[in-house]
Amino acid sequence: MKRIGVLGAGQLGRMIGLAGIPLGLEFRFLDPAEDPPAAAVGSVIRAPFHDAAALDALADWADVVTYEFENIPVGAARHLAARVPVWPPAEALEASQDRLEEKRFFRALGIPTAPFRAVNGPEDLVAAIAELGLPAVLKTRRMGYDGKGQRVIRPGDDPAAVWEALGPGALILEGFVDFRREVSSIAVRAIDGTFGCWALSENVHRDGILRRSASPATDAAGIADAAADAMRRLMSTLNYVGVLTVEWFETATGLVANEMAPRVHNSGHLTIEGAETSQFENHVRAVAGLPLGSCAPRGYSGMINIVGVEPDPAAVLAQPDVHLHRYGKSPRPGRKLGHATVRRDDRASRDAALDRLDASIP
Ligand SMILES: Nc1ncnc2c1ncn2[C@@H]1O[C@H](COP(=O)(O)OP(=O)(O)O)[C@@H](O)[C@H]1O
Ligand SMILES: [Mg+2]
Repeated sequence: MKRIGVLGAGQLGRMIGLAGIPLGLEFRFLDPAEDPPAAAVGSVIRAPFHDAAALDALADWADVVTYEFENIPVGAARHLAARVPVWPPAEALEASQDRLEEKRFFRALGIPTAPFRAVNGPEDLVAAIAELGLPAVLKTRRMGYDGKGQRVIRPGDDPAAVWEALGPGALILEGFVDFRREVSSIAVRAIDGTFGCWALSENVHRDGILRRSASPATDAAGIADAAADAMRRLMSTLNYVGVLTVEWFETATGLVANEMAPRVHNSGHLTIEGAETSQFENHVRAVAGLPLGSCAPRGYSGMINIVGVEPDPAAVLAQPDVHLHRYGKSPRPGRKLGHATVRRDDRASRDAALDRLDASIP
C-alpha cells in the first residue's frame, strides 16, 4: 500500500499529503481547479469529479482512494469503489451530503439534533414555522458550507421572501438552537475497528466561517464522554475508515449534533502541533491500513484561520512559538488562505498567545 488517490486537491488534500509523505506514501489528486493547493504534494488529474475516464485513471494508479471534500458525487465514489478500496465508505458520503438525511441518521442512533422539517415549497415553510416557531434557520439540504445556503428567519420576516432567496430546491427548516458554545469532535477509525478520538475543540465562527479553535475545550468533563461515545456509534454503524468530524452545539441540556463531515476538518488543524498524532496523519494511516497513532493532546493548542486577506507572515512569526500554514491560494473575500497555531503547556499561556495571534491576523 503505497499510492493514495485523493478526490479534491484543496488545502485539506495538501495537508493530508504533507502528513503522508514522511510515511513513504505517494499522492495523486483529482480536482477540476487550476493549480490547486495540493499540487505541491502530488500530481493532479485536472477533471470534473464525475469524469469517468479521470476516475478510472485515478483507480488505475491508486492502491486506495480517499476524499477531502464531501460534495463529490456519490456516483463518483461508487464508480471508484468498484475498482479500488474507497475510504471513508460511500455510505458516509451519502449520509452527510443531505442535511435532512444527516439529521435522520443522527436521530436513528439516539443522537439529539435541533427539531427539523423538510421544506419543499413556500407552503411547507409556513407550516414548518408554525410547528417549530421562530427564530429558525432555513438551509439548503445540499451543498451548503461556511454559512452559505442558509438564512435565520426571525419574527416579522416574510417567509415568502426567505423562500425566494434559498429556493427552489429541497430545503430544511431547523429550530434555532440556543447554544452556549460550539464544539467539534474529530475521531478516527482503522480498518480493524480501532478507534481514536481527539480532545474536543471549542470553535468560534465569524461571518459563518470558522475563525478560532481551541483544544481541549474548557469544562468539557460532562460532554467529552458523550461525544466520544456518539462518534464510536456513528463510525461503527457506517463501517467507517478514516477521520470523521461532528460539529456540536452545547446547550443547557447537553450536546446537540449540528452536522458531520466525512473528512479531516478545519477545527482539527491544531492537531498538527497540538496532538501526539495529527488528524491528517491518522487519516492517512487509517486509509492505508497502518496502525493508528495516539490522539492525545500535547498540552493546550489554539488556531486562528486566515480568511480573505493574508497577514504579514513576518509579523505572525515574530510572535514566540507560532506555526504558520499557508495554502498557496490567491486572496479572495471569504476564502480560507491559511491558519496559524500556538501550543503551550498550560491553558492560561495558550489563551494569552492565542489572543495575541488573533489580534495579529485581520
Ligand atoms: N439550528 C441552528 N441554531 C443556531 N445556530 C445555527 C443553527 N444552524 C447553524 N447555526 C449557526 O450557523 C453556523 C453554520 O451552520 P452549519 O449548519 O454548520 O453550516 P455550514 O455547512 O455552513 O458549516 C453554525 O456553526 C452555527 O453557528
Ligand atoms: Mg458547520
